Amino acid sequence: MNMDIFNLSKEIIVITGISGNLGISYANELLKRDAVVVGLDLEQNKNINDLKKIFSSKFLFIKCDITSKKQLESVQKVIIKKYSYPTVLINNAAIDSPPSAPIEENGPFEYYPEESWDKIMEVNLKGVFLCCQVFGNIMASNKTGSIINISSIYGMLSPDQTIYEYKRKNGEDFYKPIGYSVSKAGVINMTRYLSSYWAKSGVRVNTLTLAGVENNQDKKFIKAYTSKIPIGRMANSEDYIGPIVFLSSKASNYMTGANLVVDGGWTSI
Ligand SMILES: NC(=O)c1ccc[n+]([C@@H]2O[C@H](COP(=O)([O-])OP(=O)(O)OC[C@H]3O[C@@H](n4cnc5c(N)ncnc54)[C@H](O)[C@@H]3O)[C@@H](O)[C@H]2O)c1
Repeated sequence: MNMDIFNLSKEIIVITGISGNLGISYANELLKRDAVVVGLDLEQNKNINDLKKIFSSKFLFIKCDITSKKQLESVQKVIIKKYSYPTVLINNAAIDSPPSAPIEENGPFEYYPEESWDKIMEVNLKGVFLCCQVFGNIMASNKTGSIINISSIYGMLSPDQTIYEYKRKNGEDFYKPIGYSVSKAGVINMTRYLSSYWAKSGVRVNTLTLAGVENNQDKKFIKAYTSKIPIGRMANSEDYIGPIVFLSSKASNYMTGANLVVDGGWTSI
């Protein structure tokens, strides 16, 4: 196969939620492949400083809240001035239920707080919508672009609450909450809508659906979760790099509106 179809040296790639576990891993690989990467996040951390040192002018971090259209528009201006039009957008930023979440958030559905619903929709749906509006618009006017919307197996299927049975046996009234799941389902149809809307404008829009990454969770959780995965293990961040390179590059030129599911086989059974 001609490896040039994976060439990223002309791409200007915007990654939201870059300071997180997966964002950093994508940035590192895309930079190694000679792309320009602009990372957006609420916070800058040590990993970001390391990327700055290694990749210098090819990498730019901008503090930005993706739920603010005003901030995204000023980010857009900075990118165009420093580099040129963005050609790839990875909508990676999202929230799940943080440790600081109110106790009801991980409890029974009947008591799931309205504020938790609003917050998760604000980031996971409105944030993606605004990034598509701001960066997709400029891509469409430039007649080229690839948007990668990150979803989850919990956006395709309901969370399997039996995975969390071990917590309930320990006396915790724990249920994987509804908000994340519904927001990630919304992302999948936002992809379909925009792929069709921009099909003639040279902007491709695809979803990349992921399963859980092993990241110091408790052993009981890992065992219960892994029992659902035909491949027999949780993912690691490297498992998602190949799909990101593929969707960012010309190798996926004829692909739009699709959902690339990389889940160790979870949704196949
Ligand atoms: N890690 C997994 O197991 C897993 C599984 C399936 C899907 N995913 C999806 O992959 C993506 C990345 O996951 P991760 O594990 O790296 O998450 P993470 O929590 O480590 O990183 C998310 C990043 O998004 C940032 N962020 C949150 N709100 C923001 C806002 N308003 N504006 C800008 N940045 C904001 C956070 O600061 C954080 O750095 C998410 O979309 C997640 O839903 C992850």
